[in-house]
Amino acid sequence: MLAFEALRAVDERDAYANLVLPPLLKKARDKGDFDGRDAALATELVYGTLRRQGTYDAIISACVDRPLREVDPPVLDVLSLGAHQLLGTRIPSHAAVSASVELARVVLGDGRAKFVNAVLRKIAADDLDGWLAKVAPPYDQDPEDHLAVVHSHPRWIVSALWDALGGGRAGIEDLLEADNERPEVTLVARPGRSTADELLDTLGEESGLPGRWSPHAVRLTEGGEPGALDAVREGRAGVQDEGSQLVALALAQAPLDGPDKRWLDGCAGPGGKAAMLAALAAQRGALLLASEKQPHRARLVAGTLEGNPGPYQVIAADGTRPPWRPGSFDRVLMDVPCTGLGALRRRPEARWRRRPEDLDGFAPLQRALLEEALAAVRVGGVVGYATCSPHLAETRAVVDDVLTKQGGAELIDARPLMPGVPALGEGPDVQLWPHLHGTDAMYLAVLRRTA
Ligand SMILES: C[S@@+](CC[C@H](N)C(=O)[O-])C[C@H]1O[C@@H](n2cnc3c(N)ncnc32)[C@H](O)[C@@H]1O
Repeated sequence: MLAFEALRAVDERDAYANLVLPPLLKKARDKGDFDGRDAALATELVYGTLRRQGTYDAIISACVDRPLREVDPPVLDVLSLGAHQLLGTRIPSHAAVSASVELARVVLGDGRAKFVNAVLRKIAADDLDGWLAKVAPPYDQDPEDHLAVVHSHPRWIVSALWDALGGGRAGIEDLLEADNERPEVTLVARPGRSTADELLDTLGEESGLPGRWSPHAVRLTEGGEPGALDAVREGRAGVQDEGSQLVALALAQAPLDGPDKRWLDGCAGPGGKAAMLAALAAQRGALLLASEKQPHRARLVAGTLEGNPGPYQVIAADGTRPPWRPGSFDRVLMDVPCTGLGALRRRPEARWRRRPEDLDGFAPLQRALLEEALAAVRVGGVVGYATCSPHLAETRAVVDDVLTKQGGAELIDARPLMPGVPALGEGPDVQLWPHLHGTDAMYLAVLRRTA
């Protein structure tokens, strides 16, 4: 029932699963008939059903005698939840069917419960591989459509990810499957404020592992709870994907001639990279200006930076009409708004909401923000242009266009700025990948202003 309520909210109100679920789980826990295992199961049902929706839609389509758009959305949600229990979990088939039919009886009525029963019995007649062999077009005939159905991504996203990744079938399949996995929770020990060893000692061997790449990262294993750590409660550590840590570390390590005193984060909200930059700036006696357009997100940045040992300032400002003087910074990060196609692991519904047209909406803003970043940095200073999307229209195309239009800047090789991290691409920019690095698919280009 709880999983159904969450799916309805995502469907009807365009809600985010990661926001609707916690209050529903809390309400159920407060009622007293719900324990941690029930919560874990409900979470898995909601996230799994949303992630695999493309695959389940194709299978359900094959089992009903009308187009899916003519099936009422609440009926479709019950069918998708049932399909996930049958094909994506170890719940025995009879239990999955009877629980779904009972749910349908309560929320949809007897007539529709019969329909649900009939469709789920058809689905239960085969396993996932059997169904995929029937409903996905053969790879040789239409590789993108095949991958879209088998790995449950919209076709345009399969195509865009494949363009960005290059290579053959194995890489893209690994990437699409990595998008369907629940990401690990990673902590950052903010430099100079806590250490990875301190976090690991507190967590103990069962709950924490060292990061793969960032010396400041700690990975939580099952049962690790970030809020239980003093360092997290005190802001000396936080939750941050390792890719996001690497981007901030790389910008801070980019070689620079001359002064290194004034740093800018021009798109700072909610403040993960700003907190890392502020901590690193403090160690070098530099000042960070963290700027963010949305006032409520600027307040989040201020909360994240509180207690930073060195000087910093947080302002709400539009990075395309900046209040700072041109040429006044030594290092600038522009982590621009984007489609977020590199973080599909975290937002199970995001892949179905995004549209190719969204790219056109972001394109002028991304270019304007990078242009202003280059204007904000002094000659000889460095700019990091970052996205949480590997889509080439948001990464290389933006950097190439701005360099061509504006001149006065050169790309520097960002790969040595992530020492020890393999498979960063051919440079000079870097692209991280969930299946290769266990991080979000963050992109970073580092530019030096030359004139
Ligand atoms: C990808 S997020 C930044 C994430 C952040 N760097 C972090 O690591 O926590 C992009 C941010 O840019 C902000 N933004 C959007 N348009 C902006 C603009 N014109 N000027 C400054 N910030 C803007 C968004 O509100 C959002 O908070």
